[in-house]
Amino acid sequence: MSYLEWSEALSLDLPTMDDTHRELVELLGAVEDSPDEHLVTRWRVLIDHTEDHFAREDQWMRDTRFSSVNCHTTQHQVVLQVIREGETAYHSGRPEVIRVMARELAKWFLQHTQSMDAALALHLRRVGYDVITGVVSIPNALPAEEIRGCASATCRT
Ligand SMILES: [Fe+2]
Ligand SMILES: [Fe+2]
Repeated sequence: MSYLEWSEALSLDLPTMDDTHRELVELLGAVEDSPDEHLVTRWRVLIDHTEDHFAREDQWMRDTRFSSVNCHTTQHQVVLQVIREGETAYHSGRPEVIRVMARELAKWFLQHTQSMDAALALHLRRVGYDVITGVVSIPNALPAEEIRGCASATCRT
């Protein structure tokens, strides 16, 4: 049984975001099933994919009046830093760190998708944001002030 399987519980009804998330689930599965000799290569592919994934969401937030220091973006930065440290640990002779991180990343991803990403997807739909063109079709729905939190129900920022 994989740490994480794609299911409708992860779907946020935003095809570009869902496709990226589905790819991440697959990459995580490839890391989990990896023999030791391919582990760091597959982890690197996952890091590259995650850099693009987070950069895109961060851009969508900037385009729709989130502050550049909102907590969703901050969480992306922290997670990226951690998974890069997994690669460093591997090269210092501790390959098991990547395996532990993969398990933790699966837990984190489920929670992140169902809270911060879900709130972002809702916000983007509300303001009529086109993730391909970057156009906001309902500008009146944009908040008057910058959003410093992540707009999720449990956000305390
Ligand atoms: Fe995401
Ligand atoms: Fe996110």
